[in-house]
Amino acid sequence: MRAAVSGALIALGVVLATAGGGSGTTPAYAEGSDAADSTCEVSAATLTWGFKESWRAYIDGSIANGSWETSDGADYETPNFLWSVVTGSADASGTAGELSFTGSVHFTGHSGVLDMTVANPTVVLSGADSASVLIDISSKQEDGSVVEATQAAFASVDVSQAEVSVDGDTVSITDAPASLTAEGASAFSGYYAEGEELDPVTITYSLDASCSASESATAEAGTSSAAAVSSDASSAPASSESAVSSSGLSAGWTAAIVGVVVVALAAAAAVWLRARKGRVGQ
Ligand code: HEM
Repeated sequence: MRAAVSGALIALGVVLATAGGGSGTTPAYAEGSDAADSTCEVSAATLTWGFKESWRAYIDGSIANGSWETSDGADYETPNFLWSVVTGSADASGTAGELSFTGSVHFTGHSGVLDMTVANPTVVLSGADSASVLIDISSKQEDGSVVEATQAAFASVDVSQAEVSVDGDTVSITDAPASLTAEGASAFSGYYAEGEELDPVTITYSLDASCSASESATAEAGTSSAAAVSSDASSAPASSESAVSSSGLSAGWTAAIVGVVVVALAAAAAVWLRARKGRVGQ
């Protein structure tokens, strides 16, 4: 019997320790939880990118005497190309996701010797600091050969230098510096080298409303986008706020109740043992 009581106490102690850990410094919605890691379907997005100002000036200037045309969903509004036909998924903080846009830009110049199409950019967000733009390329070189690549890594994007903001379910990454990759450089007939500065990239995306943006945003606070993220947390729907806080409270109450039960059981066991000792001693 004594062993049974001790066993029960140990088991309850384990339960108490577990419950206490779960309700302590790490709230249910914080880092590492499913909500923090979850990505959501993107319902709308825009990639706004001038590509490279000096390239545009070269194409439509007096050297190349060329032009560009957009099609299949891409557009041009001076000084930017715009892509807004998109599929993809992303998180609410601008640190993870993949946005695949549809649309192409066809550059021509030098009476057709220069003939380059870039199409279907994909923005890959791969951390608080880094992103990349993949793109389909077909580009005639000065020597007549053609460089062709599908979803080539074209630009490296420095998200850490961008302005990141969150407004409800919409994330904006504004003016992220971008540079040309080695693969991108290979499409420019040797005129650009790897690392060549490109125009800054601006990406805006909205998450599907059915996916909770506020919980992921809360978990990401403390990154470069902390200020914007915390403003999102304050505008989160009341239902999700209360769900988060009530789960935190219930864990705390569980620990408190288990603690009281353990103390009561320990007291009862002590009384029982003392009484038994007294009986044995008689
Ligand atoms: C008839 C063929 C071509 C001629 C005569 C030509 C000539 C030139 C000249 C005179 C310049 C400016 C000077 C310089 O920066 O070196 C230039 C710049 C450039 N060319 Fe061409 N080019 C030709 C074809 C091409 C092709 C096929 C491509 C790419 C596929 C290309 C890409 C560039 C680039 C990227 C620049 C630099 C633009 C900038 O200032 O950012 N060129 N080209």
